[in-house]
Amino acid sequence: MLSSPTTPSSPGRGQRLAILVSGRGSNLVAIARACADEAWPAQIVAVIAHREDIGAVEQARQLGLPVRCVPLDKSLPREVQDERLLSAVRESRPDWVVLAGYMRILSAAFVAAFAGRLVNIHPSLLPAFPGLHTHRQALAAGVKLHGATVHLVTAELDRGPILGQAVVPVRIDDDEASLAARVLEQEHRLYPRVLRALVEGTLVVEDGRSRCPGSPADRDPLLLMPSCG
Ligand code: GRF
Repeated sequence: MLSSPTTPSSPGRGQRLAILVSGRGSNLVAIARACADEAWPAQIVAVIAHREDIGAVEQARQLGLPVRCVPLDKSLPREVQDERLLSAVRESRPDWVVLAGYMRILSAAFVAAFAGRLVNIHPSLLPAFPGLHTHRQALAAGVKLHGATVHLVTAELDRGPILGQAVVPVRIDDDEASLAARVLEQEHRLYPRVLRALVEGTLVVEDGRSRCPGSPADRDPLLLMPSCG
């Protein structure tokens, strides 16, 4: 049986995205630009960060998005910090929680609270190169193809069901920076597409595999392939 990966409120313009950030915010901007289109089925209701002094918060403010800062108090047990984050996110009543360059590992309780509605983008073709320094890992491994993956977040790091992937060629003269830039450009195409399919309910997950039932079997709209020419 096919099932939607989630049970948000009914698909439509009113779907609410809470975006968690901790970096420069370029994926946030890509998603916000997509949301600005009238035809887009969702809106960003909260951008949540642990610090004010990051690029993503500055970008969010420039875009007029509601920003909420939940500072990390390292003197508190991790579970307490995570409970604070969880209640801040819950207050925004999101249908979807979107990690856009969010660099902290979320607690099992947080992941469970938004199971099937928590989405991440990772800069590699998972399951290859989970964790950090993915472009360095790809260059060291000598792969010819690299890319980015949007996936549902589960308790196991970088292991949840894959929702979409963008592939880029690795060039012989690439270094980490050039490869990262090529991947990032594709991330900005991929993330809004996957989110739209999720929000509209045209993407389903079955036995840990995702697909778009309305699309031809040989043309997956959420597989972005390179031009190697
Ligand atoms: C992206 O490469 C994303 O895949 C990874 O962190 C980076 C965030 O970049 N999870 P930005 O903050 O969206 O510019």
